[in-house]
Amino acid sequence: MTPIIRVEQIADYVGQEVTVRGWVYNRTDKGKLVFLLVRDGSGFVQCVAFKGDLEPGLFDQIVRLPQESSVVVTGPVRADQRAPGIPGGFEVGVKQIEIVQAADEDYPMALKEHGVDFALDNRHLWLRMPSQWAILRVRATVISAIREWLDSNGFVGMDTPILTPAACEGTTTLFETPYFDEGKAYLAQSGQLYNEANIFSFGKVYCFGPTFRAEKSKTRRHLTEFWMVEPEMAFCDLDQLMELEEQFVGHIVQRVLKERTPELKSLGRDLSKLEKITPPFPRISYDDAVAMIDQMRAETDDPEQKELLKIEWGMDFGAPHETALTNRFEKPVFVYGYPTQVKAFYMEPWPGRPEVCKSVDLLAPEGYGEITGGSERISSPDLLVERLDQHKLPHEAFKWYLELRRFGSVPHSGFGMGVERTVSWMCGIEHIREAIPFPRTIKRVYP
Ligand code: 4AD
Ligand code: MG
Repeated sequence: MTPIIRVEQIADYVGQEVTVRGWVYNRTDKGKLVFLLVRDGSGFVQCVAFKGDLEPGLFDQIVRLPQESSVVVTGPVRADQRAPGIPGGFEVGVKQIEIVQAADEDYPMALKEHGVDFALDNRHLWLRMPSQWAILRVRATVISAIREWLDSNGFVGMDTPILTPAACEGTTTLFETPYFDEGKAYLAQSGQLYNEANIFSFGKVYCFGPTFRAEKSKTRRHLTEFWMVEPEMAFCDLDQLMELEEQFVGHIVQRVLKERTPELKSLGRDLSKLEKITPPFPRISYDDAVAMIDQMRAETDDPEQKELLKIEWGMDFGAPHETALTNRFEKPVFVYGYPTQVKAFYMEPWPGRPEVCKSVDLLAPEGYGEITGGSERISSPDLLVERLDQHKLPHEAFKWYLELRRFGSVPHSGFGMGVERTVSWMCGIEHIREAIPFPRTIKRVYP
C-alpha cells in the first residue's frame, strides 16, 4: 500500500511513492508538463504531471483543472531545490491523480490582488491562502506553548465564566445582554477577578478563553472578541511577576521557532529578530519611559512625530508612544509603575507613592507594543473598598471579591496576554485581524 502522507513530513519520503490528498492552489502549464501546487493542510507541494505518464484524456483534464479542485495524487517524491512549496524543495511526480471535485471556475479569491475588505468578506476562503494558513498555524502553536508552559510549571487551568455580573476592566467597554429575572449580564472582559478567588484554593492558576471588549477603537491592535490567557499567583509580587512573564514569553517564542520555521519563512519573517527573544527582558519605569519619549520627541525633525509623541506624566501611552519606545529595544520591554489614574481599580499602590501603581505592561519590539498587562493586586480589604468607591463600582457585585481579602489575604499578582497581538508580533504582520480565524471588530461580524 502506498502511504498517505502529510506534506509537512515529505522530507522523510524522498525516493518513495506516496499519496497526497488536498487542493490545487495553483497550476502552471508548460506543454507536456503541468505543475500543480497542492496544499493538504500541513503544507504546499509541487506535483508534476507529464503527459506521457498519464492515461489519455486525464492529462487534458489536468491542464484545465481550476484552482481549489480537490485531488488525490500518487507518485514518487523527489528532492529538488527549485521546487516551490512550504517547506519547498520537494516534488511529487504524478503517476496517478483522482479528481475528487473539479472546482467551479469563478473562485472569488483567485490568485490576484484583493482589497482588505474583499478579503475579509471572503474570510471563509481567504483562510486557504498561504499567508493566512501560516499565521494561523503559528497561532495554534502559540496556544499550545502557552498551555504547555503553564501546565508544566505548577499552574492549574481554571475556566472562568463568560457571562458575568460586573466590569473588570472599566465599564466603558462592556457588552451587555438581557439575563432573565436577574436583569443584565455582561460578556467577560477578563477572568482575573475569578482567578483571584481560584488562587486561594489552587495557589497558581490560569484561565484561557475568549474575551470581549466593546472597544470603540478601530486600530490595528483592537478586536471586540479576542483570546487572552491570564495566569494568577498567590505569594507573588511585581518583580516575581516580571520574572515569570519573561520565562513564559521566551518559551513561547522559542517553541514557535522550533516548530514553525517554514511558516515564518514563508511570511518573510526575519527569524534572527525572534532568536534574540530570551530572558531577561529590559525593565524601565513609567517615569523613565516618559522621559525617553520626551527626548525622542525633542530629537525628531518630523512635525507629525512631534505631535504624536506629545506626552505628559499621568497620560496613558498611545500606540505611537509604544511604537517609539519599543523601537529602542531588541527584546520585549517591561514598563512598570504606571499612574494609578490610567489603570484598573484593583492595582496595589506603589509604597510611598499612591499616584503610581504596581502595574506592568510588556511591550513587544519592532513597534508592536503592549502584548501583556498585569499587576500586583490590592491585598488590603479597606483599600479595596476605597478604590471601588473611587471607580463608582457597586459593592453588591463585588461582595464576594471583597471577601477574598478577609480570609487569608496574601500579596498576589497576575497578568493577561492577548493571543492575537502576540501572534501578530511573531508573524511580523500589520494587523491583528489576520491573527484569528474569524475576526470581530466594531465594523464586522460576518462571516
Ligand atoms: O491590559 P488588559 O486590559 O488587562 C486585563 O484584562 C487584566 N485583567 C489581565 C490580568 O491581569 N489578568 O488586557 C491584557 C491583554 C493586553 O495586553 C492585550 O494583549 C490584550 O489583552 N488585549 C486585546 N487584544 C485585542 N483586542 C483588544 N481589544 C484587546 N484588549 C486587550
Ligand atoms: Mg492593558
